[in-house]
This record gives sequence, C-alpha cells and structure tokens, in this order.
Amino acid sequence: MKPIQVGLLGIGTVGSGTFAVLKRNQEEIRRRAGRGIEITMVADLNVERAREIVGEGTQVVADARAVIANPDIDIVIELIGGYGIAKALVLEAIAAGKHVVTANKALLAVHGTEIFAAAREKGVMVAFEAAVAGGIPIIKALREGLTANQVQWLAGIINGTTNFILSEMRDKGLDFAVVLKEAQRLGYAEADPTFDIEGVDAAHKATLMSALAFGIPVQFDKAHVEGITQLSATDIRYAEQLGYRIKLLGIAKRRDDANEGKGGIELRVHPTLVPSKRLIANVEGAMNAVMVQGDAVGTTLYYGKGAGSEPTASAVIADLVDITRLHTADPDHRVPHLAFQPDELHATPI
Ligand code: HSE
Repeated sequence: MKPIQVGLLGIGTVGSGTFAVLKRNQEEIRRRAGRGIEITMVADLNVERAREIVGEGTQVVADARAVIANPDIDIVIELIGGYGIAKALVLEAIAAGKHVVTANKALLAVHGTEIFAAAREKGVMVAFEAAVAGGIPIIKALREGLTANQVQWLAGIINGTTNFILSEMRDKGLDFAVVLKEAQRLGYAEADPTFDIEGVDAAHKATLMSALAFGIPVQFDKAHVEGITQLSATDIRYAEQLGYRIKLLGIAKRRDDANEGKGGIELRVHPTLVPSKRLIANVEGAMNAVMVQGDAVGTTLYYGKGAGSEPTASAVIADLVDITRLHTADPDHRVPHLAFQPDELHATPI
C-alpha cells in the first residue's frame, strides 16, 4: 500500500520535531500504522527556512490553500496556532474531506463545537492529542482508557511555562521576568506568553479535557481563569514554610448536584496550595501531570513533558498513526501487534 500523504501547515518547533521523529522512527511507525506516513507538502510563509528543515523530497509552498487543494493529501496537520487563519484553514481542510491533526488548543477550546460539527458532517477526524499536555497521551486516556468511568474530577499542571517559572523562582530565587525569558528561549512559552502566565493556555487545555471527561460541550467562556502574575517570591517562600507548593492547576470537577439537573461541571484555573508531599507538588520545571478520578478506576496519574519539539511531535504522530490505522489501513493493522513480524523480536530471558 502506498504511503498516506500528509500536508503540514506551519513548520516551527513542533513541525521540525514531527519531521525528525517521522524520519528517525519511520519503520516502526509504518508497521504500527499499517502503511507509511509521509509529509509530502509543507506550507510556511518562510519558504527558505522551511526548505532547510524538510530537505529534499517535500514540496514547500507559501500558500496553505495549495496544500488543502491537493487531492493526494489525506491528512492536514495544522501547526499555525491562534484563532484567525488557522480556523479558516481547518474548516476548509475539513470541507475538502481531509482528516485534521492539530496542536491548537486555543482554536478548539473556543471554536471546537463548530469545528467538530463540521468534521462529523463530513465524516473526517479532528485529532488533537498534541493540544493538551504535550507528549502525555491524556486525550487518548480520557477518550479510550477511562471511557467506562463516570469521571468525578480531573486536576493537572498543564502549562509547562508557568510550572517552570514557579519552580525556578522557588529553587533559584530568580525574578519572574528572567525565568519567563528563559522559558521562551527553551520553546515552552506561547508566541504571546500572556496566554501562559495569565492561565489562558491552561484553561484552553482544561476545557478540552473537561469536554472529553464529562461529555459536555467545549465551553472555554465558562472557565474561571487566574494566572500567576500576582504571585511574588514571598508568596512562594511562605507557602514552602507552611508545607505547601504553589502550583497553577487546571481543575474540572463534577459538582455534587450535577446529576440532579441543578448543577454541572466546575471548570477553573488558578494558583493552588498543594501539600508538598503530594506527587503533583513535586512535578518540576516544564513537566506536566494530570490526575483523573473515575468511579471505577479510582485515581490515576499521567506525567511527562508538556511542551517542546519532540514530545509534542510524539503526540502529533500518534494522531497520524491513529487516523492511518483506523481510517485508511488494511483491517489487519487495526490490531497494532499484528503489524509486527512474529519472529523478529523476542522478549529475552535474563
Ligand atoms: N505554552 C505551552 C506550555 C506549550 O507552556 O505548556 C505547550 O502547550
């Protein structure tokens, strides 16, 4: 079967990582997906830089609509970000019958209802593992692994920039502004870091998780949002002396009266005092962690890198593999282990 063809819109940090990981692990990915996955076309305004990243064999254009118009492209990856042109392009890709993979939490948290409805009508997937908690497969956990549960609450450190800032301020006594610059240099922060430090990015992600966990519409406008800009080094020090760490948590919680038709789901992001001994209090730097409490499973915890080039690329590619396997591959490959040759690899007795 010939490789599935993918078009990529916007090649920055995550796009470069996606190219690198697809190339490095191409054989494993081909087997798991049931067919090869190739990014054959990239659209980026900076054509020269994009060419340097992708090398030979991938067409680079400035016009994203040329990618969408290409009938050979089955999946479009949107890594432009923001609500503006990204929204128009995602809707156009869906209208053209393409599956969409996106890391754009802002777009989905605000316009998700419209985008998901368009995709449903057209019978295509909109996959967004990379939109929440970078490399942690929390979307798949909520959608698949925990699907039997009535989720009672979820709470997480879902913004690496603010967790990095809080950790560095505490450990090194550095100023907020200095650490923010470092977070930007390391590629954690959004283009407009206001979204990070004001809690908006975490609220976008909490909104998406709450929709999956509780089956509610994506309702970013209902979230209570408070960031870390009002916190001082003194707050952090006092919290420490009292046995707490200050963490910016995204929380979604079923209210006690939710089943009586009176209440619903609380959705909030704010700095929270977490007892220092709790696992989640010890999540440091740009790492993310999400706890989910389900009625059947109890409490579960997911931990990993929430931002950065290859961790986020790992999530983008997971969605590419999912779509390829479930929507385009030979039925034999829908059970992942069948994709491997039985005699090739063995568990080795020690
Ligand atoms: N700015 C985000 C963060 C990037 O710091 O977590 C990943 O979504």
